Amino acid sequence: VIANKALRKHGDQFVKVHVNLDERSYDILIGSDFAAVLADSVVSGSRVLLVTDSNVNAIYGDDCEAALRAADLKPFRVVVPAGETTKDLSFVAKLYDESGKAGLGRKSCIAALGGGMVGDLAGFVAASYLRGVKFLQIPTTLLAMVDSSVGGKTGINLPHGKNLAGAFYQPVRVGVNLRTLESLPEREYISGLAEVVKYGVIWDAELFGRLEANSDAVRNRDPDFMAETIARCCEIKAQVVAMDERESGVRAILNFGHTLGHALENVVGYGALSHGEAVAVGMVYAARLSVEERGLDTKECDRLIELMIKLGLPVSLERAGIDDLSWSEVRMAMSSDKKSQDSVPFLVLARELGSVVFGCEVSEEQLEAAYRAVTLKEG
Ligand SMILES: NC(=O)c1ccc[n+]([C@@H]2O[C@H](COP(=O)([O-])OP(=O)(O)OC[C@H]3O[C@@H](n4cnc5c(N)ncnc54)[C@H](O)[C@@H]3O)[C@@H](O)[C@H]2O)c1
Repeated sequence: VIANKALRKHGDQFVKVHVNLDERSYDILIGSDFAAVLADSVVSGSRVLLVTDSNVNAIYGDDCEAALRAADLKPFRVVVPAGETTKDLSFVAKLYDESGKAGLGRKSCIAALGGGMVGDLAGFVAASYLRGVKFLQIPTTLLAMVDSSVGGKTGINLPHGKNLAGAFYQPVRVGVNLRTLESLPEREYISGLAEVVKYGVIWDAELFGRLEANSDAVRNRDPDFMAETIARCCEIKAQVVAMDERESGVRAILNFGHTLGHALENVVGYGALSHGEAVAVGMVYAARLSVEERGLDTKECDRLIELMIKLGLPVSLERAGIDDLSWSEVRMAMSSDKKSQDSVPFLVLARELGSVVFGCEVSEEQLEAAYRAVTLKEG
């Protein structure tokens, strides 16, 4: 049983992180059971389409549905196949259909129980069904807890590429049941750690230091340590999103490591490389460019690499199990990224651990040289 210090410290059943977005503000409740984080729900009394995937449903579907009933809601469960290919238009259509069958009205709610795939898909449906019904995020992967469930980005993949159709749509609540982490496959857990490390680099050098000092606790999913860490990551994301909800400026810092990361995911194909693994290699790439372009101390770049190795994250393409990926292919994928303009990628680079700059343009030579550095064979 997770009875963690963070919760005891607050003398409560959950830790609360507020996301301040005026009339779209909401709370992230982080606790150790569904009932605690879904009780006193802001959507009390209404119908809820509970969307989950086949893996998550088998472990948590019943518990979560019971907690929603206990919170005085009327859940209708829909189970979609697990896996990224479900995040597409055909399942949007299926969920519209299920929303109709469940009789959802404007005051009803769609809840996403699962990882980022379910969250993005169900969120997109919630944003568009009846021009918007309430949306409840119940994340069950580390990535979803610290990243995708917070901040309101929803969307689906199109045949042309990933996340090409979407909407900014904030949930009314994020309910994190930390115990769901216990069943998360190791590769998924480690993948989520890339985003955790990212928050240390972009915002909080102290968090970075705590991860270094407690890497075993992190690897072992120590409930106390992870509860505090997840809460801190949510706080950082909440602060960044509150400053720039629609990514017209500072929110771009959340993309540290993602320029190369997205390109690798695109070229290698989703599945061979998880999002977190691609971002981990992308962070090393960005850190190497930061040394050249923004005066990041090489010792800090090395600390990042060492921490990621300790956490089991890949720091080169070779360590990610990827062989021979030509720079021209990767560069082309960078050009077609949503965040590039006229084929020029704008990068997030670090001045020091805990402080980054966004919108950095880098010469073609530097872009390629840093790529060589992450593809070097280690012998
Ligand atoms: N909206 C955003 O801001 C944002 C940010 C980052 C990523 N994303 C999106 O998130 C998606 C990736 O999310 P993800 O990494 O959570 O993957 P995912 O949702 O596909 O989940 C990964 C796997 O873990 C399983 N799973 C989930 N929770 C589990 C649990 N507690 N125990 C056992 N198995 C469990 C799932 O069934 C799945 O097989 C991508 O589609 C990506 O585009 C969105």
